[in-house]
Amino acid sequence: MTDIISLMDAMDYGVAPEDTKIVDQWLADHQDGFGHFIDGAFTAVGQTFDVSNPATGAKIARVTQGTDADVDAAVAAARKAQPKWAKLSGHERAKYLYAMARHVQQHARFLAVLETIDNGKPIRETRDIDIPLVARHFYHHAGWAEILADEFPNAEPVGVCGQVIPWNFPLLMLAWKIAPALAAGNTVVLKPAEYTPLTALAFAQIAAECGLPKGVLNIVTGDGATGAAIAGHDGVDKVAFTGSTEVGRIIREQTAGSGKGLTLELGGKSPFIVFADADLDAAVEGVVDAIWFNQGQVCCAGSRILVAESVAPKFESLLKTRMAKLRVGDPLDKNTDMGAIVDPVQRARIAELVEQGRATGVDVHQATAPDGCFYAPTLITGVDPASPLWSEEIFGPVVTMTTFRTVDDALALANNSRYGLAASVWSENINLCLDTAAKVKAGVVWINATNLFDAAAGFGGYRESGYGREGGREGMLAYLKTPLAKQGKAEPTPAAPHAAVGLGVSDDIDRTAKLYVGGKQARPDSGYSYAVNGPKGPVGLAPLGSRKDIRNAVEAATKASGWGKATGHNRAQVLYYIGENLSARAAEFEARLIVLGQSKTAAKAEVETTIRRCFWYAAQADKFDGQVHSTTGRMVTIAMNEPLGVVGAVAPDAAPLLGLMSLILPAIALGNAVVAVASQSHPLAATDLYQVLETSDVPAGVVNIITGPRDDLAKTLAQHDNVDAIWYFGSTEGCAMVEAASTGNLKQTWTEIAGLRDFTGQDGQGKQFLSRASQVKNIWVPYGE
Ligand code: NAI
Repeated sequence: MTDIISLMDAMDYGVAPEDTKIVDQWLADHQDGFGHFIDGAFTAVGQTFDVSNPATGAKIARVTQGTDADVDAAVAAARKAQPKWAKLSGHERAKYLYAMARHVQQHARFLAVLETIDNGKPIRETRDIDIPLVARHFYHHAGWAEILADEFPNAEPVGVCGQVIPWNFPLLMLAWKIAPALAAGNTVVLKPAEYTPLTALAFAQIAAECGLPKGVLNIVTGDGATGAAIAGHDGVDKVAFTGSTEVGRIIREQTAGSGKGLTLELGGKSPFIVFADADLDAAVEGVVDAIWFNQGQVCCAGSRILVAESVAPKFESLLKTRMAKLRVGDPLDKNTDMGAIVDPVQRARIAELVEQGRATGVDVHQATAPDGCFYAPTLITGVDPASPLWSEEIFGPVVTMTTFRTVDDALALANNSRYGLAASVWSENINLCLDTAAKVKAGVVWINATNLFDAAAGFGGYRESGYGREGGREGMLAYLKTPLAKQGKAEPTPAAPHAAVGLGVSDDIDRTAKLYVGGKQARPDSGYSYAVNGPKGPVGLAPLGSRKDIRNAVEAATKASGWGKATGHNRAQVLYYIGENLSARAAEFEARLIVLGQSKTAAKAEVETTIRRCFWYAAQADKFDGQVHSTTGRMVTIAMNEPLGVVGAVAPDAAPLLGLMSLILPAIALGNAVVAVASQSHPLAATDLYQVLETSDVPAGVVNIITGPRDDLAKTLAQHDNVDAIWYFGSTEGCAMVEAASTGNLKQTWTEIAGLRDFTGQDGQGKQFLSRASQVKNIWVPYGE
């Protein structure tokens, strides 16, 4: 008996290599190199770079380095094809997407083998995860194309989309990018990563095989320079990028002021939280899927294990035993758990980060890996939050483990990161799991699970993990725009205000207003005011706010985070109250607007619309809620609309009361705190609001109002790391400035040239504002099995 047990223990799997003949043949057929896929055909091979199989180091293909001229040609083809593609019925577009899904399934084995050879990931993953998810994505989005007009009635495609993708899930990222873009009626220029361009080129053949009209999908290969040429191209209307946070920042800066739409899926350092009552065996398997899936080259990899102190020794021992059993090696072997790192450069980067950490005295536990471009599964203990191992995205099979005592400690550690992509929570107590899910700052939360993906659920991050979602309804919104019902003329930019000295106080000159910060009226730090003019000259003084005032306001807003936890019902009560109090003082506000130069009728209408808007957003406060997605069979995915946090709102000059309130109301309705910059020329309508806010039970810090030089104040807001989003309605240069200045913490931006949107009409209110005021957290909960 003992002999049999020891025999069983000693038994190993034999090798089970996947057959590569068909892929080898395909590569041999293209031994002269690959051109780009532009306007429905492959171009001649240009200057090439080599593509290697990371597992063997063998060169497997030569691929063309995309030049500016290639990008021009691809964008021109996409531009030409776009109107016709958009004009097709949703049903017609759906047929192409269904065809692509089917053809991916027909070529599934080919694509899985090619992906494994190109990327180094195990065939088990490409066969069972990557390629099935690719097909699923096209099926799902064929559905969106079919019902587009019903589900998004006023929406239009954005136009030509430039898409740049990474190398960790080459074909899956392609599917995530192109399926929603094409479903919505856009055309695409996509650049795969230079390490892994081959499945994208194979997919181009599949698209041609499906009869996709020429120019609808264009694939240009190349490195970062080609990516930059796409992102910066004038003919591109929207840029979608997945990759490092560093490049995300570059693209944000590059596209600032261009008017291009932008979605960024960036890095992560996701917590994997194991509570004391977790099923530890299941959690250990979870770690395998969290960090050793795809060699840890996963943006949402659970790379920071946080484990309850009481179970940490047991968990660590189980984990080390499991880690030692992982089979690292030939990715084409069906029994391999972990394959090759994508490229020696990446491998060196992983090793360097680990060695730097080792030098600081952490404990590094490693399993084994073959020589070559492989890296052993690695567990690091004793890491403190100041270490780069804790904060940097290692993007390899390396996980840190830290213990915690209380739930609050666990949350503090989990949220101690500039990223916010995903989190995984393990406990047999579903109350604790859901409570943690609500408090963790991440776009995706898996409960007793990890790294689950589905086309019906949005995927994307909080904080420096980027913005925008891919998948589901939110993902479609990123490829659609709602045109203004009526477009106005750009507002003239007011000259920067100067401190007013010796204005004198006539009968017409009102009291000097103050700023509104933390629920109190506050003097500006500058100690100065500026003159506010009506049509007949000065009508009052407004505080000359400065950087310091913005900082104080942001601090007050940050402290008001309890507002985000208030129920929708509670927030609605406050908004109704603002509406009622405004209504009680309507005559006063009308008079103020008239002094500022409005006609009687316009002033009356502006006040009335503002009051209506209070009631409309009050009504929405407990109705703009989330969704429940049916994703995989044993989970349900709850999409929660969460507040962003602190929103900077820079109001247009015209409609000084309504313009400002049209920004404040949706933001606070959904639980954000606001630092608003009032109309620069006519700030007095805003300063009159303070008393309304004070008497309406708006908690201190939820609304802060600063007056003064609009663009200076906007810049401070855009640069401030505690501001989570900035909405700016001002000048063309101001839009560019705000976008460029937002790169620090990669805050979400919504910039528009003031005057184009008519805040008095239907464009001034709506769900678009509420979407802008929220971010979706997708929580995967075990359900039904
Ligand atoms: P990367 O961000 O440089 O590459 C991703 C894609 O962006 C590639 O297609 C690349 O050609 C393109 N690109 C590079 N520079 C560009 C530019 N200026 N403009 C437009 N496109 C540009 O990532 P890289 O260098 O391959 O990997 C470095 C590190 O980035 C990794 O170790 C990892 O930490 C992180 N990374 C994160 C990913 C994620 O999904 N979170 C994916 C890939 C890398």
